[in-house]
Amino acid sequence: MNDIIEWKEFLLPYKFGLDELKTKINIMVEEAMFNGKTSPIEHIKTRIKTPKSIKDKLERKGIEVSLKSAKENLFDIIGVRVVCSFVSDIYDIYQLFHKRQDIKVVEVKDYIRFPKKNGYQSLHLIVQLPVHLTYTVEQVYAEIQLRTLAMDFWASLEHKIFYKYNREIPDYLRDELKEAADSVMLLDEKMKNIRDEISTIDAVRDTLFLPM
Ligand code: GTP
Ligand code: MG
Repeated sequence: MNDIIEWKEFLLPYKFGLDELKTKINIMVEEAMFNGKTSPIEHIKTRIKTPKSIKDKLERKGIEVSLKSAKENLFDIIGVRVVCSFVSDIYDIYQLFHKRQDIKVVEVKDYIRFPKKNGYQSLHLIVQLPVHLTYTVEQVYAEIQLRTLAMDFWASLEHKIFYKYNREIPDYLRDELKEAADSVMLLDEKMKNIRDEISTIDAVRDTLFLPM
């Protein structure tokens, strides 16, 4: 295909887009935390696809393997994984993305409301943002995956197993993973209930001026 320099040049706006997206998310969080509120985000991970994984994905999808085709057909060359404590934080952040003028949400896949058959849960967004270069403005796409800590724990393990077994997970493990995914749902629900209980106690304490 193309040589290293061409690839580096191709990936440059994506790298800038990822840098910008990270900064925008950090600003969003700091703004949301203003006035002593707790952070809706536990941690963020970012990744940029390597030329090999771009080529592999194009081949897998039966699409022409070229830079032009990668630019037109792949919307996850850059990715951000946002890990939150609570499911409600995920939808709060989603709303924040929606309100922004500088980021356009072009696709939403809600695997939390509609989990995948294997039990996978996350909220996926494809967003578009402009990257201002010296002479041009490039529109760059990014995939944002929002999930809770528990969902992330499950997805990391499932991912490892998936590749260990070359995409063919044995039935008994598939069943165990599904059970674990059900436990993830229950845990997220339990943590939410505990959090809600604490905030009710805090609210009562605030109105009665009770000591901590
Ligand atoms: P692609 O052509 O691969 O982009 O398919 P898609 O757009 O239908 O993918 P989808 O939005 O469902 O998932 C994209 C990404 O989400 C994957 O690259 C993974 O990082 C993650 N993901 C999706 N499904 C699973 C799953 O079952 N298990 C795990 N561990 N991760 C998943
Ligand atoms: Mg995709």
